[in-house]
Amino acid sequence: MPTLRNLHDLTDNMEKGARVLVRADLNVPLDEAGAVRDATRLARLLPTLNVLMQAGARIGILSHFGRPKKEGYDAALSLKPVVSALAGLLNAPVAFADDCAGEAAQDAIEALPEGGVCVLENTRFHEGEVENDVAFSQALAQSGDAYVNDAFSVAHRAHASTEGITHHLPAYCGLAMQAELDALAQALTNPKRPLVALVGGAKISSKISILENLSQRVDVLIIGGAMANTFLAAQNIGIGKSFHESDMLDVARRILKTAPCEILLPHDVVVAAALAVGQKTRTLPSSQVPNDAMILDAGAESTAAICARFDTAATLIWNGPLGAFETAPFDAATNAAAQHAAARCKMGALTAVAGGGDTIAALAQAGVVDDFSYISTAGGAFLEWLEGKTLPAVAALSEKI
Ligand code: 3PG
Repeated sequence: MPTLRNLHDLTDNMEKGARVLVRADLNVPLDEAGAVRDATRLARLLPTLNVLMQAGARIGILSHFGRPKKEGYDAALSLKPVVSALAGLLNAPVAFADDCAGEAAQDAIEALPEGGVCVLENTRFHEGEVENDVAFSQALAQSGDAYVNDAFSVAHRAHASTEGITHHLPAYCGLAMQAELDALAQALTNPKRPLVALVGGAKISSKISILENLSQRVDVLIIGGAMANTFLAAQNIGIGKSFHESDMLDVARRILKTAPCEILLPHDVVVAAALAVGQKTRTLPSSQVPNDAMILDAGAESTAAICARFDTAATLIWNGPLGAFETAPFDAATNAAAQHAAARCKMGALTAVAGGGDTIAALAQAGVVDDFSYISTAGGAFLEWLEGKTLPAVAALSEKI
């Protein structure tokens, strides 16, 4: 990847009072009272915002929130509830503009003091955002003198505020975006080997490209979660009434046959009659699952085999859980493997990078989010990166204007 222009390239040559538009991902979960339930994405923005504030920029934050179905304001998808949480983290006042483009945005940013911050309303209230409309990109750009993208988790979207705007303003890579790209490069582009990937979750159908890309690039591919059931079934192993995708058996066979790496599937499994709390469970060899049982987690021997792969690995990429982790005790394998990986990271023996979908929730439940080398807050963007795709917003940052 070419070197991207970074935040210091901007601040070293910036006049105080310059208007800087920061593309952030303020798409955070809210609770029923409208308060931010998980502020991780907001906290990751602080380094970039603090540097810009100290440099005396007037900062307008661009972000989407949710997926509005039509053009125009929708109170349920306003970014207003996020403002106080961000102000609390920044320990500074944060203004709000009720439109991300036009006079409302321009006036709000002009009115800021040097080092001031303003959140601009949901970019997706304009259809031009997802259409990456040129006129809308220009309208966004009119509120700024420079643009900083600090939202890796939306980098897979070629939208006006992530891609189009870079053609109308000098564009720079924020510190959170840079940290994410560095961690991902360390994990897959230029990893220390052996390189192990753990891919869990329910469906092969949503992760075919990931499995195919990773199987060509890693030394060991560990497959877990309900997805592993389809791989067992593809080898004519009886899996009882376990969740699996019968239309994916040929895909699983093709991956098993053509992957140049070791593929590790569970050889013992935890089964129960149903996915529910308080079920009687048994651990059996994966070849002996009764017809009336469901596989809901990897067994202790499989977990030990996974941990043994971690012991010899230099780099680990983790995506998805090994079992039905939301329902105890089917979180045991995920917890034990995650805790083992975390311990290896703490010893300095392993670089472990995780992200995508249910991954953060599973690792948070295992109590290891602070111990992995890097945990991405991205969902779809992390998955597309695992597929080996070019992310349009990252590509756009390398184009100089
Ligand atoms: C996310 O939550 O993954 C990002 O904010 C991207 O959201 P999107 O999938 O609606 O583009």
